[in-house]
Amino acid sequence: MTSSPLAGLADQKSQLLASIAALESLEQLREAEPRLIGKRSVLASLQKSLGSLEPEARREAGALLQEARRVVESALEERRALLARDARLRLLEADRLDLGDVVLGALRVPAAVGHPGLVASTQRELEDVFVTMGFNVADGPEVESDWYNFEALNIPPAHPARGLWDTFYVDLGEPETVVLRTHTSPTQIHLMEEAVRSATLPIHSVMPGRCFRRDTPDARHLATFHQIEGLVVDRGITFAHLAGVIETFTRAYFGPDIESRLRPGFFPFTEPSAEFEVTCTICRGGGCRTCSQTGWIELGGCGMLDPAVFDAVGIDGDEWSGFAFGFGIDRCAQMRHEIADMRALIENDTRFLRQFS
Ligand code: DAH
Repeated sequence: MTSSPLAGLADQKSQLLASIAALESLEQLREAEPRLIGKRSVLASLQKSLGSLEPEARREAGALLQEARRVVESALEERRALLARDARLRLLEADRLDLGDVVLGALRVPAAVGHPGLVASTQRELEDVFVTMGFNVADGPEVESDWYNFEALNIPPAHPARGLWDTFYVDLGEPETVVLRTHTSPTQIHLMEEAVRSATLPIHSVMPGRCFRRDTPDARHLATFHQIEGLVVDRGITFAHLAGVIETFTRAYFGPDIESRLRPGFFPFTEPSAEFEVTCTICRGGGCRTCSQTGWIELGGCGMLDPAVFDAVGIDGDEWSGFAFGFGIDRCAQMRHEIADMRALIENDTRFLRQFS
């Protein structure tokens, strides 16, 4: 009796499966494939040897062999799929681009971190000074009706005082009725109206914000600039309170080296009115291009609230009195940091901006 050609089949099958499991790459698999299941494989030579068997035995052995081949082939396919997936993942991982690494690695500089601009940080410092003095901070719209920006502030249409503010008009509604606010003073009107409506007088507020004027930019002026407005409405308020607030603010913000002075001035919404000036920090009072050789820089205006303004918002001027002031935030930044030309604030030159981080 000759031993069956398939006597070692089980062993051979497990050897084949072990070699398949040991394949580590698609390349190895491709190389090994003919040896595992191809014409030169054990399975192929077993297949050939079945030819010598009786038909009955051949059929049985053939079925066994086919089953073994199916198991081996599907193990091989599974291994191929697994290795292909690993290869794809490795490729993805290798291709992944961490832009942070690339940029920082290539430039060898630390990441540049942004910071608030000089005007924003100046605004915050000014707010801090006034909050310490007992003021609160309020906000108002940048687009105003003619009434808020002018009329309620005692500047009727066609009044010559309108010439003080070169105005940008917004193309909305009747011609010249909607403006980009030329100063922060209209926010005073909003606050007083609101306090009357909600019966919450007195008011002690500052109102910082962006303003717009049809000015040609020069060393001291920008067409888009920032002001901070102050408003106090209370009982028994006098000009002495106003002068005290201005003086306290100047010392707190600019330090003891810088002097301030009030000079008689004119604003339609205050009576009496004054202009508020500080020593020019560029020349320390000696006279230069920035201060037009005067040694002083005008920061803004102030005064006692005009009765016409109280009338416009419905506040009883016999019971209440108040003062207001308004001055340039950009101008404060310019003086504090000795910036000869204000246009540097809007030129976005990072060499300039970086100094104020
Ligand atoms: N709004 C004025 C301007 O922009 C500045 C000003 C003057 C504001 C007197 C005031 C004030 O509140 O009382 O020129």
